[in-house]
Amino acid sequence: MTAPAALCVLVTRRLSIDPLPFLRARLGEGCAVELHDSESPIPRADLLARAASADAIVATLSDRIDEELLNRAPRLRVVANHAVGVDNIDLRACVARGVRATNTPDVLTDATADLAFALLLAVARRLREGERMIREGRFTGWAPTMLLGLELRGALLGIFGFGRIGQAMARRALGFGMRVAWSRREGTSAAGPRIPADLQTKVSELSFDEMLAQADAISLHAPLDASTRHAFSAAQLARMKRGALLINTARGPLVDEAALAAALAAGQLGGAGLDVFEHEPKVHPALLSRDDVVLVPHLGSATVAARRAMAETAMAEAARVLLGQEPLHPVSPADR
Ligand code: 8YV
Repeated sequence: MTAPAALCVLVTRRLSIDPLPFLRARLGEGCAVELHDSESPIPRADLLARAASADAIVATLSDRIDEELLNRAPRLRVVANHAVGVDNIDLRACVARGVRATNTPDVLTDATADLAFALLLAVARRLREGERMIREGRFTGWAPTMLLGLELRGALLGIFGFGRIGQAMARRALGFGMRVAWSRREGTSAAGPRIPADLQTKVSELSFDEMLAQADAISLHAPLDASTRHAFSAAQLARMKRGALLINTARGPLVDEAALAAALAAGQLGGAGLDVFEHEPKVHPALLSRDDVVLVPHLGSATVAARRAMAETAMAEAARVLLGQEPLHPVSPADR
């Protein structure tokens, strides 16, 4: 009789903590950890080859977990995403093969909302232009009319995607004296989110069109799926209040980037703060040269605490499933 093969966990990227002791403490000394120990994504061919012997994959948003991969991974029992977004995973294909999928909610909520609010402040108060003026030696003294921005107090923030991170963004905006409204996606009749007690009397719901027409700034916090892809393309951007700001820390493809660049060039939008990109890591060239656009490289959850907690959560989820326990943060197609 051959001994059962030891458990093997494939970790597709260097993480904030060393996976080997973390996983062995839970799965035993015999557990093998295949680590792609790099800041760069694992090449597709490597991912497919190494998935063949994996019982679990700790994946990042750049790893496509699709039919092709699942077909080559006969032992796979769980894909534990090191992310709250799961648009890199074909959840239906996972269900069909009995492969569990998990994510890392909660631990990155505040970090991501902080970054979204930082982008909002940076765009509203024209920090990029001011920074550049100083560094280029063009600051010769303040002037009453120089670089005037949007006053946040009293301005209306529209939030698209009112889950954990959207709600955390709302709390920050309320603290700055903003009015806050959220909206469901265009044309949806889906049930809305549960609004926590502390926000119930402080935020209002608007129709998607009302939000576009009325908001001084709109911040995107919806997951990427078929119903949200290009939710903000030329037609929607044209219906936004003239001069409004757009902030995206969710997923790039929620926005048609070429249409965004055109709307900014036409003065229809007053600025944008982007952490995510339609063809990440590429950025539409027309955005690169604009002073009214603040660009950061997918830093939403990039705090020491959040990234550590994400690594721990993802690996603990993988271990739970391999030990026959229910994961704490399962995701299924029904959640989408
Ligand atoms: C991560 C994110 O940086 O959690 C998400 O969905 O986009 C970010 O927090 C990234 O996904 C890590 O895999």
